[in-house]
Amino acid sequence: MATLCRFSRLSPYYSGVVQQLTRLASVNSLRCMSGLSAQFEESKNRLSKLKNDPGNEAKLKIYALFKQSTIGTVNTKRPGMMDFVGRAKWDAWNALGSMSQEEAQKAYIDYINSLVAEEEEQQETQTTSSTQKYECLDVTVQDGLCVIKLNRPKKKNAITVQMYNEWSSALKEADEDPGVVITAVTGAGDFYCSGNDLSNFMNIPPEGMKQMAIDSGKLLNRFVSSFIDFKKPLIAVVNGPAVGVSVTIMALFDAVYATDKATFHTPFSALGQSPEGCSSYTFPRIMGTSKATELLLFNKKITAHEAEKIGFVSEVFPDSSFQQEVWPRLQALSKLPINSLIFSKALTRDMEKDVLHKVNDIECDRLVERWLSDDCAKAIMAFFSRKK
Ligand code: COA
Repeated sequence: MATLCRFSRLSPYYSGVVQQLTRLASVNSLRCMSGLSAQFEESKNRLSKLKNDPGNEAKLKIYALFKQSTIGTVNTKRPGMMDFVGRAKWDAWNALGSMSQEEAQKAYIDYINSLVAEEEEQQETQTTSSTQKYECLDVTVQDGLCVIKLNRPKKKNAITVQMYNEWSSALKEADEDPGVVITAVTGAGDFYCSGNDLSNFMNIPPEGMKQMAIDSGKLLNRFVSSFIDFKKPLIAVVNGPAVGVSVTIMALFDAVYATDKATFHTPFSALGQSPEGCSSYTFPRIMGTSKATELLLFNKKITAHEAEKIGFVSEVFPDSSFQQEVWPRLQALSKLPINSLIFSKALTRDMEKDVLHKVNDIECDRLVERWLSDDCAKAIMAFFSRKK
């Protein structure tokens, strides 16, 4: 139980799943203590020493092996459709079939050991990041250029609750820092960003799904507002595919530079959801209603060149020279007089500010309703069970 409590502190955005794990662990612990090997106990302690969230798939595996080790084969009914956390856990446990408790203990021990070893290896290679104040972002400021790099490459830079908050804070800091002229956002690894981290929907608080949806609506509203209110020039450096909210908010940026490997995809209806980031207002104005419909309603993925043609992307670069061409250009822009840039941006944007905030409110209200729909629950379940 202590193991799982520590684990919960390390990964607050998955606390819904972990809280349930913790409850189960406490129920099971009395029953199982006598039969657990010393090695199994030791592994539980090692699990508590993990510093990073190992991800949802890993936690489901740990849960399933723990249950199989301590109880044996699955002995409960599959939870109902709306309890997608419960269903995912049940499926993971059930997938272990007739594995014996001893085999499960051994697999549990091996798995925890591999997670700990992987993390130790990562820590050794991380030489500079310890001075960073953000966990999900890499933020640097040099000669007037602030670069906010989304830094969860293993998860294609999917945006967790923590990352939404960090991104908003980094923007606020850049806006307030007199040393920053131009701010650029880019992604680490091969993706720009895969949009909202769908695991955020697993973080169900004790108050229930409705509260989770309301809290998520407020979080998204604050996040989008930080782009609407950003005073200095903001540039997207799109290093690879972009999905969901990372695409919609791009229309609130001042310029978008993309590699020819980038794609732009907003699969809202496929996920039972609806547009955000003010895209229901900005997209039709940028590209016309017909193209906006294809993107926002019909889930059409477009290439960087197509996005440039409809005025969504400012310029596309060959992938082979993208980084070498874009950064010197942004460094040069960072030498321009800051007040001239701020006033010019205000002239082109401020008339729309109130409208954008209103659109943001309406979109977030609609999403709170959508997140509670059966369509959305089914789509999230489908995403997390796709690899099985
Ligand atoms: N939310 C949660 N996890 C995500 C994610 C997201 N938006 N995007 C990627 N990931 C995770 C995957 O689950 C996977 O985790 P795992 O290694 O623990 O299994 C890891 O990132 C790598 O993704 P994977 O799917 O294996 O890579 P891929 O190249 O085959 O596909 C995507 C990449 C982005 C196309 C695919 O992951 C995807 O469709 N993600 C969902 C995008 C989405 O719907 N976003 C919300 C839009 S509103």
